[in-house]
Amino acid sequence: MKINRLKAKDYSIIIGKNSLTSLASEVKSHCPKCKKIAVIIDKKIPKKFLTTLRKNLKKYKLLFFFVSSSEKIKNLDQTNLLVNKLLELNFNRSDLIIALGGGVVGDMTGFVASIFKRGINFINLPSTLLSQVDSCIGGKTGVNSKYGKNLIGSFYNPKVVISDTELLKSLPRREIICGYAEILKHAIINDKNFFNFLKKNTENIILLENKILSKSILKSCKIKLNFTERDFKEKNLRMKLNFGHTFAHALEIQNKYSNKLNHGEAVLIGMLIAIKISKFNNICSAKTLDEVENLYKKFSLTKNLSKHLKRNEILKSIKFMKNDKKKDDEKISFILLNNIGKTSIPGKFKYKISQVKNLVKKLF
Ligand SMILES: NC(=O)c1ccc[n+]([C@@H]2O[C@H](COP(=O)([O-])OP(=O)(O)OC[C@H]3O[C@@H](n4cnc5c(N)ncnc54)[C@H](O)[C@@H]3O)[C@@H](O)[C@H]2O)c1
Repeated sequence: MKINRLKAKDYSIIIGKNSLTSLASEVKSHCPKCKKIAVIIDKKIPKKFLTTLRKNLKKYKLLFFFVSSSEKIKNLDQTNLLVNKLLELNFNRSDLIIALGGGVVGDMTGFVASIFKRGINFINLPSTLLSQVDSCIGGKTGVNSKYGKNLIGSFYNPKVVISDTELLKSLPRREIICGYAEILKHAIINDKNFFNFLKKNTENIILLENKILSKSILKSCKIKLNFTERDFKEKNLRMKLNFGHTFAHALEIQNKYSNKLNHGEAVLIGMLIAIKISKFNNICSAKTLDEVENLYKKFSLTKNLSKHLKRNEILKSIKFMKNDKKKDDEKISFILLNNIGKTSIPGKFKYKISQVKNLVKKLF
């Protein structure tokens, strides 16, 4: 089976079935002085992958830290716990921290790696579709605060990312759709041909058909890299990746980061709202909105989401936008859609909270 290696400026992303077998050689080449490895691992990862890691990394002192992943544990308390544990165990910068989990484990472990002794080696092994197509790329690490999501963090790249598609087999369909939401976002904001490919192949992605899946992960990573490499510190261009996320983050806070609405589902809703606003403002055509809505319907992406798409639900969430990082001055900045494959320029569309409320009242 083909394993793809995608080269970013400072690191590689290795994608494919059984790509985890390359871990030992990657550790050897990127962390030559490493003696100890701490693996921060999601409790839901099937045991056979622990066995793989133990077998491949037997020449190192290997320590596992198990995490019950949820937005609630992605915080400074958990970060502190991990940092203290590593200090107690006398880890050095030349040692290594590995994240084996979804975006929660990856973001938090990356953050720990960035602050531990001002930066220790970090390798990311993303285990959800969302983390393989999105959060493992671009160097954003961080944790949540009571004031909002991902408000504490740093930019820190891993030495390497290994996305083994075998890890995705234990994911529930709901989580796969969450990752798919970010794949779809990348197509909508950047690539009409990829969007057309998704119109035909979405079900195969959700069913984890290996060839289509690997191709979609690779394409999605390339699109995200294209934005993040050109604007690492999110000064301008990279903000296009926030398409749909301003509403998504507000809805997640409104739902208290609970299982009722997970990140990918919030993104699906957020993108639809952003496209509706785009159409209302004549920035995109009715045909563009139809195309996206039809795709949502065809693959039942909105089946469980319709209750969150209600006017009152959305209105209640708007107050949480005021703490969004993407806000400067008094207005909230939105990325809107011109047509499939092209968004508005970051900073072009800014609305006051009262204007956002009015828009939602007109649209829902
Ligand atoms: N850093 C970035 O650029 C970036 C980008 C997008 C999202 N994010 C962050 O990513 C997070 C969401 O990531 P996520 O959707 O992966 O969430 P997650 O890490 O919570 O994983 C989702 C669920 O899947 C389970 N899981 C993980 N791997 C599994 C496996 N192989 N088999 C079975 N179950 C498994 C987890 O325990 C959890 O219940 C959010 O915190 C978001 O802020 C970060």
